[in-house]
Amino acid sequence: MLASATVARIETILEPHLGPFESASWWARADRAAGELSALFEALFGDDAPRLLDAVFVAVAQATARRPVDLRAMDARRQATPDWFHAPDRVGYVAYVSRLCGTLAAVAEHLDYLEELGVNYLHLMSVLRARDGQNDGGYAVVDYADVDPRLGTWDDLVNLTTALRQRGISPCIDVVVNHTAYEHRWAKAARAGDPRYRQFYLMFPDRTMPDRYEETLPEVFPQMAPGNFTWDADAAAWVWTTFNSYQWDLNYANPDVFVEMLEVMLTLANAGVEVLRIDAVAFTWKRLGTNCQNQPEAHYLAQAFRSLLDVAAPGVLVKAEAIVAPSDLSAYLGAYPSERRECHLAYHNQLMVMLWSSIASGETRLAAASLASLAATPVDAAFCTYVRCHDDIGWAVDDALAASVGLDGPAHRAFLAAFYRGDFPDSFAAGVAFSTNDDVGDERTCGTTAELCGVQKALRSGSVHELDLAVRRIELLYGVSLGFGGIPLIYMGDELGIGNDEDYAVDVLHADDSRWIHRPQMDWSGASRRHSAGSVEQRVFESFRRLLSARRGAAALSTGGRTYIAAYDDPAILAWVREHDVHGRLLGVANVAARHARLPFEALAWCGIEEATDLLGWRDIRRDSKELVVAPYGVAWFTDAGTSALQPPPVGSARTV
Ligand code: GLC
Repeated sequence: MLASATVARIETILEPHLGPFESASWWARADRAAGELSALFEALFGDDAPRLLDAVFVAVAQATARRPVDLRAMDARRQATPDWFHAPDRVGYVAYVSRLCGTLAAVAEHLDYLEELGVNYLHLMSVLRARDGQNDGGYAVVDYADVDPRLGTWDDLVNLTTALRQRGISPCIDVVVNHTAYEHRWAKAARAGDPRYRQFYLMFPDRTMPDRYEETLPEVFPQMAPGNFTWDADAAAWVWTTFNSYQWDLNYANPDVFVEMLEVMLTLANAGVEVLRIDAVAFTWKRLGTNCQNQPEAHYLAQAFRSLLDVAAPGVLVKAEAIVAPSDLSAYLGAYPSERRECHLAYHNQLMVMLWSSIASGETRLAAASLASLAATPVDAAFCTYVRCHDDIGWAVDDALAASVGLDGPAHRAFLAAFYRGDFPDSFAAGVAFSTNDDVGDERTCGTTAELCGVQKALRSGSVHELDLAVRRIELLYGVSLGFGGIPLIYMGDELGIGNDEDYAVDVLHADDSRWIHRPQMDWSGASRRHSAGSVEQRVFESFRRLLSARRGAAALSTGGRTYIAAYDDPAILAWVREHDVHGRLLGVANVAARHARLPFEALAWCGIEEATDLLGWRDIRRDSKELVVAPYGVAWFTDAGTSALQPPPVGSARTV
């Protein structure tokens, strides 16, 4: 499908670098990608498609020629084991470099700590050069080919990725694809009137089109940055700015933008980055009359990036940052009526939201209905499960699903926002509001895991009982996240029960963005208490170690398994089944309430009620004469390991949602 002159040119580029076997493999990948891309490019770029196809394959061949030999060896290993990334022992850790330890070079000094925890995937934030002043936590990039000088140099990045690779830790960094900083050289050229670069952005001479788009556009930051367009006097135009006014949305209808961003990704892959987190991918395509999120073309773009990266760097993963409604989520993993290759990974924001929803209300009907509504995950992709991250929690509760379990969607969202603000009677949480939008009745939530679970509130009140419950809530949330299947991510400090940074607003650059309350400095002195018996840090850290060590033995969490939801009569029970054709099954049981919850014995019939193995050691669950009793906020992971005559899976004896 490539022009013969292009094929000849590519052969000249590759010939000095690839031996016959590597070359054969490269062309096999390229042929597959070309097949996928011709349809994608035609849908995205129409008549430009053939020209573009030739251009991107030349770019990919050049990147292959530049790719260091050790990374090519890693690619070869991973092609032979394409499921390398979601083994049961894979665990991620997420941190701002500046907050973790200050510089890229210093990260290397903390790898022993991460290894002690069992981490082998590390998402480092805000690595590339962002604008000075306010920069949305680094998500306003001025130069994708440079490291933020406060953190170090490009060589430091390469040294760090090399050190991580040697330890078997996969580095992940962000590629902010939807927008650049206003000071990026493309934006500067656009403002100076360069016609090529004006086409890189979405600019309008007057309010006619912006007003029409605004009719259906939501606001992402209604308080910090109201509206989706910003007037720029230099450009004499209204510029599309979904997020902050200094973040200019790129125009992906222009194929040159695609090619430039592909180059960014290839360069990062060749610097040893193993997971590219495609930031705000849901927003990359605009369509009048819609909310301009999750458009089919946003998926085509993600598929095209993935397809081309697979040619140049097949050991590298693409992760979608698409924090969207449950009905839109699984598509980023390629889950269509007929599956397509899209992102290897995506955030499971539904699980995250539903966990918080469940422990606030003490019941799981909404969680079960929402999680059961998701399309099945393709076997070669995985969700990243998580409890907290650097962003706010948006209460993504689907109104129809809420209604199906007798809840009013808007009222439940309002309840969750008030509960986690701590303003609801008996709330254990101490979070703060983010982006309150009274016009549409929306409010999001900020706060660390420990604060939202009540650790600091309990410490302030001096209640031993409340502290115990708060620590158990953290264990519960991570007990589900770590046992659900996919790659679980630990947000920096959660493993120590770290609290909010109440001083965040002292920094004028952060004062209007309450997300900084849950982006504190890493508490290394707290970390040093992780082995001091009785400290909060020790209790929480030990919980993580216990869960993580059990997880390594949970074969059913291996790649290729399916997770589905089972339901039992007690509404405090969230139960899920992870089923794998070769590696057996795991039944996860979590009690989201502060009371005891009950399960019928039959829940364990599939693995033999008497012989059932709880990988978490029967700490939170016991058999009484009639049923299984789960302690407040208790978790258990039952497996059929070691049993002979297997019964049907537990949903057979339960009420399936
Ligand atoms: C992503 C980031 C978030 C940022 C936004 C805009 O959602 O996680 O921190 O504000 O993109 O770049």
